[in-house]
Amino acid sequence: MSGSGSGDEAAGTPQLPERSEYLFKVLVIGELGVGKTSIIKRYVHQLFSQHYRATIGVDFALKVISWDSRTMVRLQLWDIAGQERFGNMTRVYYKEAVGAFVVFDVTRGSTFEAVMKWKQDLDSKVYLPNGNPIPTILLANKCDQAKETHYQSPSQMDTFCKENGFVGWFETSAKDNINIDEASRSLVENILANCKTFPTEKHDDDHVQLGHTNLAPAESKSQCC
Ligand code: GTP
Ligand code: MG
Repeated sequence: MSGSGSGDEAAGTPQLPERSEYLFKVLVIGELGVGKTSIIKRYVHQLFSQHYRATIGVDFALKVISWDSRTMVRLQLWDIAGQERFGNMTRVYYKEAVGAFVVFDVTRGSTFEAVMKWKQDLDSKVYLPNGNPIPTILLANKCDQAKETHYQSPSQMDTFCKENGFVGWFETSAKDNINIDEASRSLVENILANCKTFPTEKHDDDHVQLGHTNLAPAESKSQCC
């Protein structure tokens, strides 16, 4: 009887599981000074500084995550300056992003009010192949500090997210390292789910190409498009 396995299997060598690697472009946006750079620094370098130096234009960081025994995820984090909303560059920066964090500062109500402007700017400039918005998570940062009196309750935040197309929200602190890993995990889960929904993608100027990678060909192992 002939078998269907490979020669290796016949010789008793177990087959290695297939490995997948993804590169995802993720945006971090929100008003000036809400803590975008601090969140990224904490997440990628395990560092925090009280010292504020405004980001000019855009900064980048790479976080490599061993998602599971067979999956490697590289997050290319685009740290966009809070002042950029008033510039014309966001369309260029948002291009080909597959996920985003919108950050506000729980001690400054005005930064929460600006969240919708950032979300609308995002949704008008980048979207999934089916026209849906890219998965976006709202981060209520600086939760180590006293919240402003009018801060929303958790159930109000849930409703706000549902009504405004956020896939979730987290209270975070870059200072005390609260919920940053969790928020990222949640975003990646959503991005990976989209990869399964859109396994092979067409690509035009404003539609995203999931898992699109700019790695050198030898390293290019993205599996979802
Ligand atoms: P722009 O680049 O100007 O858009 O600002 P940003 O959003 O990148 O803010 P940044 O990370 O530079 O942080 C601004 C200030 O807030 C800095 O002084 C940080 O130390 C402080 N900060 C950031 N995150 C936290 C936090 O979780 N808790 C506290 N207490 N302070 C924070
Ligand atoms: Mg910054």
